[in-house]
Amino acid sequence: MTTPPVLVHSREELSHLLAPARAAGRRVGLVPTMGALHEGHASLMALARKHVDDGPVVVSVFVNPLQFGAGEDLDRYPRTLAADLEVCAAEGVDVVFAPSVDEVYPGGDPQVTVEPGPLATELEGRTRPGHFRGVLTVVAKLFGLVRPDVAVFGEKDYQQLVLIRRMVADLCQGVEVVGAETRREDDGLALSSRNRYLEAEQRHEATVLSRALRAAREEARYGAAAALDAARAELRTAGEVDLDYLELRTPDLEQLPADVPPGTEARILVAARLGATRLIDNLPLVLSAPTTEVSQ
Ligand code: PAF
Repeated sequence: MTTPPVLVHSREELSHLLAPARAAGRRVGLVPTMGALHEGHASLMALARKHVDDGPVVVSVFVNPLQFGAGEDLDRYPRTLAADLEVCAAEGVDVVFAPSVDEVYPGGDPQVTVEPGPLATELEGRTRPGHFRGVLTVVAKLFGLVRPDVAVFGEKDYQQLVLIRRMVADLCQGVEVVGAETRREDDGLALSSRNRYLEAEQRHEATVLSRALRAAREEARYGAAAALDAARAELRTAGEVDLDYLELRTPDLEQLPADVPPGTEARILVAARLGATRLIDNLPLVLSAPTTEVSQ
């Protein structure tokens, strides 16, 4: 039998609920989500549990309007709170914080937001201007409301993870940020709440993204150019995939220098549209030869 988490909607309830744990010096863990929870989120909760021991694990479920651009999927983003509570119960989550938009932004859109810096205009930021300002602003607010010792984010949204780490460091927020490896379907597709938008044929084609990244990782021993070529060749095998970017960067998402020593760690990132659905994925890899080419 699993004990269901306590569901709270207001800041007051949340603060009241966490006060005893805080007073007892227990660590508080936070897994910020937008709901539509799947196994990937469950693995974040399990990791949060490991980091707080018997302290409370809080999962926030909030579809944050501030991070959606015009024409994005804010209205159709899946809202599945009843099912989400079951996922949280199975992972032994203590508290689910599911605030309304007014609870998070009582005065409407905030006048003060978190400026995410230059990385936010690259990769995802090129097609989603303002997205990371919305993400960092809500994450900063959640940190203020929950006051977690540790917060867990998936590596699937790798640029988001890098920017959150940067925010925590630059603004001295004192939260330990833990990244969790991407969970995948058996055929390699990275788990994502947006996968449910895919029609059967698109779902089939979507596996090309992880295949391309794996091909790049295989060829990385011959250098960056070989890795990117292998990924591109794989991407060309899919019909309906509209490539947005394929890039090789440092683990901090800086540009790779032209010459890197063998054994340099890197990250390959891809984004593509399948019909109306935009998917992203990434993998770490190790370059074993000098690099001369770093993007598509
Ligand atoms: O990754 C997400 O689900 C969201 O961007 C986050 C971190 C919960 C902020 O709304």
